[in-house]
Amino acid sequence: RKKAPNAEDIRARKGGTPLVSLTAYTTPVAQLMDAHCDFVLVGDSVGMVLHGLESTLGVTMEMMVLHGQAVSRGLHNAMMVIDMPFASYEHNPAEAFRNAARLMAETGAGAVKLEGGVEMAETIRFLVRRGIPVMAHIGLTPQSINTLGGYKVQGRDQQAQAVLADAHAVAEAGAFSVVLEKIPQGLADRITAEIAIPTIGIGASAGCDGQILVVDDMLGFFTAFKPKFVKRYAELGQQAEDAIAEYAADVRSRAFPADEHVFADHAPAKGSAT
Ligand code: KIV
Ligand code: NA
Repeated sequence: RKKAPNAEDIRARKGGTPLVSLTAYTTPVAQLMDAHCDFVLVGDSVGMVLHGLESTLGVTMEMMVLHGQAVSRGLHNAMMVIDMPFASYEHNPAEAFRNAARLMAETGAGAVKLEGGVEMAETIRFLVRRGIPVMAHIGLTPQSINTLGGYKVQGRDQQAQAVLADAHAVAEAGAFSVVLEKIPQGLADRITAEIAIPTIGIGASAGCDGQILVVDDMLGFFTAFKPKFVKRYAELGQQAEDAIAEYAADVRSRAFPADEHVFADHAPAKGSAT
């Protein structure tokens, strides 16, 4: 790592050119985004995107460490933030510290992200005061899917005050930025105006201080479902399936391997290319 921004550099971007971020789970994909993103998130979405889990609840510390190490090898310019998985931080601040410190030490991440607002403020303060930069995540918090009752918009109508209170609580607790997931645009703009740390929107507002998307969603590689807030910038899943179908047809018709893919019985003369 030479000039990757740190958490305080990200905090200082409040109100400036929007922060660019995506999730990544592997070295080659991290390499693709390294020059374009301010920070890359090793999201616990890895469980659904790469491991076929039905929610993020089954993601473990071991999975986060392995994917964090892989992403870290692909980043030199962008900051790396890593998600704390379900049940690794909610119980008490001391356990949160132990797990956050392990994620940072074993992956080289510059910060951790955890879900929750008012109820996590004490833990955020505990971590930050002990040297762990925390990115908060409020609004739709997928680790709470079983109590939220579904992946629905959070903070409409009378719910708005609760999300606003969450935003103020995490900012005052010392988070260096906060992800706002799937909340109304007007509420996202109000939060962005009222709190002193950068807001990172996903299904929020173009007025946020930055944006994030799940990389497999925006590349069209994860197609089990498409949230309204996802813009597909490519259809790599379709391209990949077309390629696999073509390969299957080539094998069955013996069109593959062709002459250029096979080896002669005798060694080629010295200086020959093959
Ligand atoms: O896990 C994840 O991908 C996330 C982003 C959607 C913010 O938390
Ligand atoms: Na996440």
